[in-house]
Amino acid sequence: MPGYELWSDKERKEVNDVLETGILMRYGFDGPRKGIWKAKELEQAICETFGSKYAQLTSSGTSALTTAMSALGIGYGDEIITPSFTFVASFEAILSVGAVPVLVDVDDSLTLNPQAVIKAITPKTKAVMPVHMCGSMADMDALVAICREHKLILLEDACQSIGATYKGKSLGTIGAAGTFSFDFVKTMTCAEGGVVMTNSEDVLVKSDGYSDHGHDHKGADRGADLHPFIGYNYRISELHAAVGLAQIKRLPEFLSLQKKNHAQLKNIIAQIPGVTFRRLPDPAGDSCSFISWFLPTAEITKAVVAELKAQRILAGNFYWFDNNWHYIRKWDHLKNSVTLNALHPELKARVMEQANKDFSASDAVMSRCISTAISLAWTEEQIKEKGEKMASVIKKVLSEQTAKV
Ligand SMILES: Cc1ncc(COP(=O)(O)O)c(C=O)c1O
Repeated sequence: MPGYELWSDKERKEVNDVLETGILMRYGFDGPRKGIWKAKELEQAICETFGSKYAQLTSSGTSALTTAMSALGIGYGDEIITPSFTFVASFEAILSVGAVPVLVDVDDSLTLNPQAVIKAITPKTKAVMPVHMCGSMADMDALVAICREHKLILLEDACQSIGATYKGKSLGTIGAAGTFSFDFVKTMTCAEGGVVMTNSEDVLVKSDGYSDHGHDHKGADRGADLHPFIGYNYRISELHAAVGLAQIKRLPEFLSLQKKNHAQLKNIIAQIPGVTFRRLPDPAGDSCSFISWFLPTAEITKAVVAELKAQRILAGNFYWFDNNWHYIRKWDHLKNSVTLNALHPELKARVMEQANKDFSASDAVMSRCISTAISLAWTEEQIKEKGEKMASVIKKVLSEQTAKV
């Protein structure tokens, strides 16, 4: 997910525009900013690029999720169904609005299993939050249908899937709201930043106010703004927005390189008997930031990971099953509900329920999965070398395991 890999004069120019005026804040200072409004420009570009009616920039993907949840009226006592494989930010945001994260199994798409979602629905369920992991999509037809039938809000965590689509629509623009992260390792970056995308004016107005202390932003005098509700400070700065503005103009270039490198490497890995790939509900919509592949058993997968490590070629290959950030197995802080400030005892108990759930269906998928991150900086030669080294490790382990049987 590497926008930063192609840092250029274009990013420097946009940042310099802001440095020249010295107005680093996105609101106010209309005179001295001399017509430079990078955050506004980036919001407009996001709407045009991804086909969203409205966009509200925030300081991070995590704050974009919290802002979207608040704007959608998600709060105390509401249950949000979300997957066991995601980044910790997804449940952090749910907890930040006082709601209950209800984690459920993923399937071989590495995203929400629609049947697991249906089973988890209770009278308290308010929203379903698919997480489009590793550059690709959840089964949106199934999830849209479930949300319609049960009158639930669909909020997309598309933080990892900038540039991916489902049946022609950008991920993050299909639900009531969707978010991207523009942190340093995403397909396009602001260094730090995020966005809430929505087609609802109401959600936009609430996101706009919530992310800036509840300001109504109706006049040019910030001091005279009214505060129709209590908000928070999740503002992006003009400097961060300037970086994003350069990067969004280069997104087609990033995506086409990403797809080219992905295709070349996948072609090598696909020739190894025993390797299969993540199921993509719409293969044409993959952003190609990762190749996620499966081996026949957990034992073989662990042996491949160990051999990649021994041969010093593990870097860029992620075994999420053992990863501290992305999979329920290692989230002891969530399962024990360890927080710095006291949670309401009822919420604490609900959070701790995650510890006693059966995630064997997720384990069966995740224990066999390795995701290989795609770099934009690779040359064809480097991809060939990387692919061949990976292939030789996988074949070696597979033949050793077959010999054991
Ligand atoms: C799935 C997912 N959601 C949310 C976030 C949070 O984004 P940020 O790092 O911008 O807060 C991330 C970041 O990696 C993510 O991967």
